[in-house]
Amino acid sequence: MISLEKPIGSRLNFTDSEETLVSEFMELVQDILHIDDVQELRDYVQHCKTTRLQHCVNVAYYTFLISRRLNLNVRSATRGALLHDFYLYDWKNNEQPIEGRHSVVHPQVALAMARQSTAVDPIMEDCILNHMWPMSRQRPQTKEGWVVQGVDKLCAAMEMGTQSARRLSPVKLKALMVSAIAARY
Ligand SMILES: [Fe+2]
Ligand SMILES: [Fe+2]
Repeated sequence: MISLEKPIGSRLNFTDSEETLVSEFMELVQDILHIDDVQELRDYVQHCKTTRLQHCVNVAYYTFLISRRLNLNVRSATRGALLHDFYLYDWKNNEQPIEGRHSVVHPQVALAMARQSTAVDPIMEDCILNHMWPMSRQRPQTKEGWVVQGVDKLCAAMEMGTQSARRLSPVKLKALMVSAIAARY
């Protein structure tokens, strides 16, 4: 099993392969984590001290927990979440490969990268392509896509260490997301 820093806020031991939740999560994402380009996400800073790989793992793990609780397509949601920010450039240094606003361009780049690396089903595509809503025009089309766009924003807040995010334990985060999704559907 590939070693992984544990998701932000999690109390589980991610080095313990006997931990059921950890092994269930790793089973879903292990092949993606072995891809060299995905490992390269470690070289980019996403928010403050959080690398892009760690951010993607954070979003994937909480998406996994929530979609599991809501009986959604856990595999597609988790894999889509892991690949939602799969781009290898620093947009702040003007390294973006195509023109346009970062919030619109990077999901498209991430989707193209994901397609080069693994099979991408329509749910994964929605999770990747529409995670920036409402900064991008198209809103998520699937329940899984809604989970990813919400978890992405909450993880970003936690990674940036905002006061409100610090008060969010993983349990509260889950409850918040479950009620938000349940209210929508
Ligand atoms: Fe993003
Ligand atoms: Fe993100």
